[in-house]
Order: sequence, then C-alpha cells, then structure tokens
Amino acid sequence: MLNRYNELWNKIDNEDTRPRFARHIIEMAYDEFEAKVLEQNPGFVKETVESLYSGDVYLLKNGFSKQFMERLIDKVFHVFQSGPSRFYKMLEGCPNFHRIHDEEASKKYIFQSVRHSYYWFPWNGDSMGVNQGIMKRWRIFKFLGGFRLDEYENNTPKDGVVDRFQVARYLPGIGRVETHSDPFQNQRFFISGFMSKRGVDYEKGGFYVVSPGNKLKDIEEFVDVGDISIGYATILHGVDLVDPGRPVDWAKNDGRWWFGVYSNSTDAVPNRAIGKPVRISLTRES
Ligand SMILES: [Fe+2]
Repeated sequence: MLNRYNELWNKIDNEDTRPRFARHIIEMAYDEFEAKVLEQNPGFVKETVESLYSGDVYLLKNGFSKQFMERLIDKVFHVFQSGPSRFYKMLEGCPNFHRIHDEEASKKYIFQSVRHSYYWFPWNGDSMGVNQGIMKRWRIFKFLGGFRLDEYENNTPKDGVVDRFQVARYLPGIGRVETHSDPFQNQRFFISGFMSKRGVDYEKGGFYVVSPGNKLKDIEEFVDVGDISIGYATILHGVDLVDPGRPVDWAKNDGRWWFGVYSNSTDAVPNRAIGKPVRISLTRES
C-alpha cells in the first residue's frame, strides 16, 4: 500500500526542528483513529503529521479492551513468579526474559528507571496469545510514521532492528522513569498502553510529558485502562514516582502497570540508537 505519510515526514522531519516539548493533548476513539490512518485522506495526513511534529500527544481511547489488559497483567505476573530476573543482549536467539530494574541496576543505564519488566520478542512464539492483537495496532503506528505496516515484524537481531514487546510494573514506593527522549530512528513515536488507572490501582504519579517552560504535563488524569498514547519520540517524557512512601514489595502485583512496544536497534549493530536523559527540573502545570 502506498504510504502518504512517508512523503510528508521526509519533507518536514529534520534534526533542527524535531519537537522537544508537548503541545496539546488530543483525545480520540482508537477505532476512529485507526480507520482514518488507513484511509489516508490527504487532509488527515497533512493535519496529523503536522500536529504530531508540533508536539501534540494523542490519547486514543479504548485501543484495547479492559479485559485484554487485565489478562495480560495476570500472564506477566505469572512470568515474574516463574523464574529469576535475567538479562540478555539483543543478539540472534535472544530469549524472552523478565528483569528487575531496581535502583542498583538502574544506575548502570544512562537514565534512571525503576520497574519490573517482561520483554518478549516475535521470534519466540506467542505463549501468552497476545502478539497478534498487539501487532494489529502497532502496524497502524508504523504506517502513520511512514513505515510499512509490517516493517521489522519478521526481523531477528542480525537484521539490526527488531520489534520488542514490554510490560512493566511500576511498583509503589519506587517505580519511576527519569525525564528522557526516545530514539526516533526506527520508530517515530513513543507508544504507551495503559493497563492501570490512577485513583483505582494506585494514587499518585504516572506518565507525564514536558510542555514549554519545563512544565510537567500529567497524562494519567485522562487515562482509562486500555487507552493508548502516542507522541513524537523526542518529546521529553517520563514516569513520575508512583505512590511515594508506600512500602516496596517486588513480589506483589499492585501499583501501575504499563505496556509498551518499540522497534529497537539490536546489539548486533554498532552505535545502536538509544534514549537520552535530560536533567532538568520540572514544575507542575496547574
Ligand atoms: Fe521513553
């Protein structure tokens, strides 16, 4: 299928003008958004590419059913309990693994992120029975970013870029991600799937973007379980400390769960594209 987004991205996207700050939050039903992306009406193509490149963050309601997310949490929690925390480089044959990113492990990374993550890859089958449902939606964002619908889908690490699924538990008391920007080379947007609801599953913190003047712009306020959020990858974002002061328990399943997909550069290529930390102090947007 001809990709009209690609043409426009090639025209406007360059090193000097990529967005660093978020502008508006645009809410839309996911189904409506998906249909419009595939329709490629020239007006929608232009408007949406320009909007995303200007820093608008889209909150797409009901991208997944609540039940899909609840079941996925159960399955991942089961994986967390079924074996030790591991780490593998993204090289040929890389298995799925879960990893505890505690404060100690987090120090080894270029930006602090405290969470418990499960990473899984398309070449290892679909033991949880969720890959097709996720891919169906991921393809829409790939296409919107100017890529083929199935870009990278069948790649393995030797190809240099692979699709990686992740579910993370941001546990109460310490779960967080420092403000950063994501690599934009392989995937033009951050893609966040919301699995928990603030005020129900946890009380404080969660996903934010940074708006002009280094203001922390809270996204969770508008979020329901099953929503998907996308924004241009270089927009500064992070996860504000979840439920400060609560006792830390890595073995439980409470707190904030999150689901994310990324087309990662693998360890089989030199100088792989990685995220960048940004050390700034943020003020809260009132
Ligand atoms: Fe990120």
